[in-house]
Amino acid sequence: MHARESKWQYFLFSFLSILAIRYASTSSYLAVPNEVLADVCQTQDQPNPIASLYPMNATGTLNGTIAVIPISLQLARKLIPKQYGILEHAYRDLLPSFPEGMYPAVLQALHDHEVQAFGYQIPDFTRTGIEFPFVDLLGDNTTSFKWAPSLLMSAGHEIALKGAMDYGTNTFPASFEPSCDAYRAVPDAKQPGTTSFSAKSADADAASITTLFSSIPELPYPLALFKNVTNQPTFADGKTCDNMIRLFNTSVTTTPNRIETVKGTVRAKIHPFDSEQEWRNVYGLRMDTAFIENNYLPCENFRGYGAQN
Ligand SMILES: *[C@@H]1O[C@H](CO)[C@@H](O)[C@H](O)[C@H]1NC(C)=O
Ligand SMILES: *[C@@H]1O[C@H](CO)[C@@H](O)[C@H](O)[C@H]1NC(C)=O
Ligand SMILES: *[C@@H]1O[C@H](CO)[C@@H](O)[C@H](O)[C@H]1NC(C)=O
Ligand SMILES: *[C@@H]1O[C@H](CO)[C@@H](O)[C@H](O)[C@H]1NC(C)=O
Ligand SMILES: *[C@@H]1O[C@H](CO)[C@@H](O)[C@H](O)[C@H]1NC(C)=O
Repeated sequence: MHARESKWQYFLFSFLSILAIRYASTSSYLAVPNEVLADVCQTQDQPNPIASLYPMNATGTLNGTIAVIPISLQLARKLIPKQYGILEHAYRDLLPSFPEGMYPAVLQALHDHEVQAFGYQIPDFTRTGIEFPFVDLLGDNTTSFKWAPSLLMSAGHEIALKGAMDYGTNTFPASFEPSCDAYRAVPDAKQPGTTSFSAKSADADAASITTLFSSIPELPYPLALFKNVTNQPTFADGKTCDNMIRLFNTSVTTTPNRIETVKGTVRAKIHPFDSEQEWRNVYGLRMDTAFIENNYLPCENFRGYGAQN
């Protein structure tokens, strides 16, 4: 009887330790929030369609906009830490007619919805930043990583903020418009399907991003580019990598939902740019995707990642 009880205790203890280790290794991100955010607004996001498919993994949905921001290679070279090469042949493979001497930086403005693992769900949050794909983190001249040095992120969401800071990200607690959705329709806009999004750091003037996008029939870039960029392992200080697997084939992305092609303006004041920038006529996608996220992994694990796709 006693032996039996202690076996149970042992089992419970080891189960909890495994959970604790999993929490520690997949970040505090998955812990139960100790400060529940006041949910004053109701998101329009549809539910996470893959939570029950991957109950032991962190999953969620990301609704929002991703746009290519062409900058000169010379500027990219100045902004991306010098120890890392830029894999121009990798982006030219996907974008053969991208202008000479240019590099595709990327804006992402996303609402994270129903993020969960092991049955624990954290409150939704929003984040935005300018990211730098096709970075040769390992020096193998092959594997593309995405450098995401800075993020504006929902103020008060300690789990998400700490989750990003643990990567060495410059994290700016921020307020967003709209506050619990990915973007908002602009009433009476001249162009069809015009939506806005804006983020402002709580620390006045530290960082901000605003966007205005309208629907257009097609893009000068292939969908494969966006699939590629959103699935590159991501890093900030290079000590660990985030493996975000964005799925383009779940119910939140496919009919009756859809991937919209958009064109618009992005205004950003955020590190590593040293002053406020405005980019007009940039092209992107507005969509929702489900994701599986594997956090804080050794970047070395990703040598050759994606090459088979
Ligand atoms: C994505 O967000 C927009 C804006 O809130 C919303 O209209 C749309 O329904 C969302 N898409 C999905 C699949 O949840
Ligand atoms: C789910 O998590 C496990 C353990 O961390 C990992 O090995 C596996 O690759 C993850 N699944 C996916 C689809 O990423
Ligand atoms: C990297 O690979 C590309 C494409 O295979 C090749 O053209 C280039 O010369 C390589 N660069 C270096 C430094 O080896
Ligand atoms: C959806 O896409 C993922 C990878 O992008 C793939 O592993 C999975 O098999 C696909 N699912 C379906 C139902 O096609
Ligand atoms: C992205 O595209 C490059 C160039 O075609 C390819 O080598 C790489 O494997 C792709 N990465 C992903 C994550 O699909």
